Amino acid sequence: MKTFKSIKSLRKYILSLKKEGDSIGFVPTMGFLHAGHIELIKKCVSENDISVVSIYVNPKQFGEGEDFSDYPRDINRDMEILENERVDILFYPENSEMYPEKQLALVDVRGLSDVLCGKRRPGHFMGVATVVLKLFNIVNPDMAYFGQKDAQQLVIIKKMVKDLNVSVRIKSIPIIRDDNGLALSSRNSYLSNNEKIIATQLSKALFKAKSMIENDNILDPLKIIDFIQERLKKTGGINIDYVEIRRLTDLSESGIIDRKDCIVAVAIYIGKVRLIDNFILGEI
Ligand code: PAJ
Repeated sequence: MKTFKSIKSLRKYILSLKKEGDSIGFVPTMGFLHAGHIELIKKCVSENDISVVSIYVNPKQFGEGEDFSDYPRDINRDMEILENERVDILFYPENSEMYPEKQLALVDVRGLSDVLCGKRRPGHFMGVATVVLKLFNIVNPDMAYFGQKDAQQLVIIKKMVKDLNVSVRIKSIPIIRDDNGLALSSRNSYLSNNEKIIATQLSKALFKAKSMIENDNILDPLKIIDFIQERLKKTGGINIDYVEIRRLTDLSESGIIDRKDCIVAVAIYIGKVRLIDNFILGEI
């Protein structure tokens, strides 16, 4: 695996590969890799001639008081994982490389960025969309891979690519979970063992809600939201941030659940740790 910290040298190398006709697949990450990232990486490696992974904890997507400085990092372990997965290129830039001066051009995917997590984390998705477009312009991939764990991020990136005519194909994978159903996240490392047990109630509530929609045909969003909220409230140690049901395509609200176009999204706090989870019905 070749590691690049400089945009210029990475660009030069990728250009030489493209001249030879190689297809480029790309997985952007913030590192501290887990089995969710690895699943994305495996897909990328299997579908492209050359696979590129970026590890960059992007300060612009963290709000004030959020966990930017505490965000878990372990580059040596990550590099070992990437070598094992036969990744060709790691892009691992410094902040001074990504933001050498004040960034004035920002990507705002209006309407999609200010609901759900965006409402609770103002500016977050502008930070995400901006860094992802920068990374696309640096790596110039044919395909880029994202997880449905961050479904709103995925919807926003897809819309950005469409609206701004970025020549990349976006592919996604379903949420990867541990044996207890907890959606894998680098932030799970903040949880104690006891908190991890509490956290499993989140996916349990979502699985049950999914079955209520799919098998019991309950299509009133308020009933499903109520059920999830009650279930989570019964569990000690959980503070609900939000439980929402929206259309998957444009994240708009709907009076009735469309089983082909729906996201049920939840964010909770366990102590100071914020966890998100969701299920989607339909194509993303
Ligand atoms: P990060 O949280 O490191 O996630 C990188 C990619 O892994 C994202 O596409 C995310 O959705 C996916 N992922 C994380 N956990 C997953 C799981 N349990 N199952 C499936 N996929 C999972 O998301 C980011 O980084 C950043 O916002 C980034 C896109 C890199 C921009 O900074």
